[in-house]
Amino acid sequence: MKLLVTGGAGFIGSNFVRYVLRELPGWKLVNLDKLTYAGNLENLKGMEGHPDYRFVRGDVANRKLVDEIFSEERFDVVLNFAAETHVDRSILDPSPFLTTNVQGTQVLLEAARKYKVGRFLQISTDEVYGSLGREGTFTEGSPLLPNSPYAASKAAADLLCRAYYKTYGLPVVITRSSNNYGPYQFPEKLIPLMTLNALEGRPLPVYGRGENVRDWLYVEDNCRAIALVLEKGKDGEVYNIAGGEERRNIEVVERICELVAERTGKDEREVKALITFVEDRPGHDFRYALTCEKVRDLGWSPEVTFDFGLERTVDWYIANREWVERVRSGEYMKYYDKVYGPRGVSWSQEP
Ligand code: NAD
Ligand code: TYD
Repeated sequence: MKLLVTGGAGFIGSNFVRYVLRELPGWKLVNLDKLTYAGNLENLKGMEGHPDYRFVRGDVANRKLVDEIFSEERFDVVLNFAAETHVDRSILDPSPFLTTNVQGTQVLLEAARKYKVGRFLQISTDEVYGSLGREGTFTEGSPLLPNSPYAASKAAADLLCRAYYKTYGLPVVITRSSNNYGPYQFPEKLIPLMTLNALEGRPLPVYGRGENVRDWLYVEDNCRAIALVLEKGKDGEVYNIAGGEERRNIEVVERICELVAERTGKDEREVKALITFVEDRPGHDFRYALTCEKVRDLGWSPEVTFDFGLERTVDWYIANREWVERVRSGEYMKYYDKVYGPRGVSWSQEP
């Protein structure tokens, strides 16, 4: 089985590459990644020399390059992880989200059609469904009502996948997962950002009152689900994947403070005093929650509880400070000041 994994140097993609090379011997894998600010070959340290692995640096929206790779490699399967993924960045500038997430997906779909790929797995998100109130869950049949430019670009990609299935019979499957967390997540996202800021004594910028709810999924559980859908999913179908671990943001941040205090010997009250309520994110989705019967029927269920996964994740960030220093470049500091500066919290202000 020969796989093309796009975005394999990012958070979920690198965990998936690691998972495949460890758990699925005999699967050959090409990783096509542009190495944006979020893509980091260090996430795949130790994999470079693996006989079943090859890395290609390139843009999924580059038609010529993508065609060349497909013609050379003759993939059985394509998994499209590559994307611009951060909601706050999509609010600052939606353009790269359209180029990579929409156009890039179409370029890949077209190549998959031309070279008769046996399966195209699109990695999507629960954010395409929009926002829930306190009650209810989204099913795979819920309407697509995205609210952020990021979510809109992912919904557009999902619809292109559907069109390629319906129009050309391309064997497409889509997974829509809830918020992932775990090792190698870029520190712009909630859990790593709060963990590192707490460790460094920086303010912890919680949007609004921290009442928004996310359903957390440990990244390895997602990787197992993706591999299962790849093997056993049905063409043209969508599979929701969630941990079933709903938490309010403020609960997550407080728990991170407790873990950081516990692990470092800092005073818990002092760490919690870093929590700073800041101006809310525009269009902030209140709550996501998913019904996952379809993927459960294939034989999947999450194995890592949020309590355990969060401990493991905080410990990973404590143990990997060099990785953190390297991925948090000057670009990160500029980005941080753009998003948080107007909210009264800036990077340049010393902790
Ligand atoms: P990430 O931002 O950590 O990584 C994205 C990767 O894609 C990076 O390696 C980047 O270099 C690469 N990339 C970006 N633009 C590219 C381009 N034009 N060509 C080639 N490579 C490019 O993202 P992630 O959190 O690992 O998310 C992976 C996928 O999972 C995305 O499609 C995302 O929408 C989806 N998803 C993520 C979550 C989550 O909680 N992180 C939840 C649901 C779905
Ligand atoms: P995030 O990790 O950006 O994922 P998403 O927006 O895709 O769900 O954010 C998770 C939640 O945490 C979301 O409700 C926004 C909130 N949040 C903050 O309160 N402060 C922050 O600095 C960040 C990055 C997120």
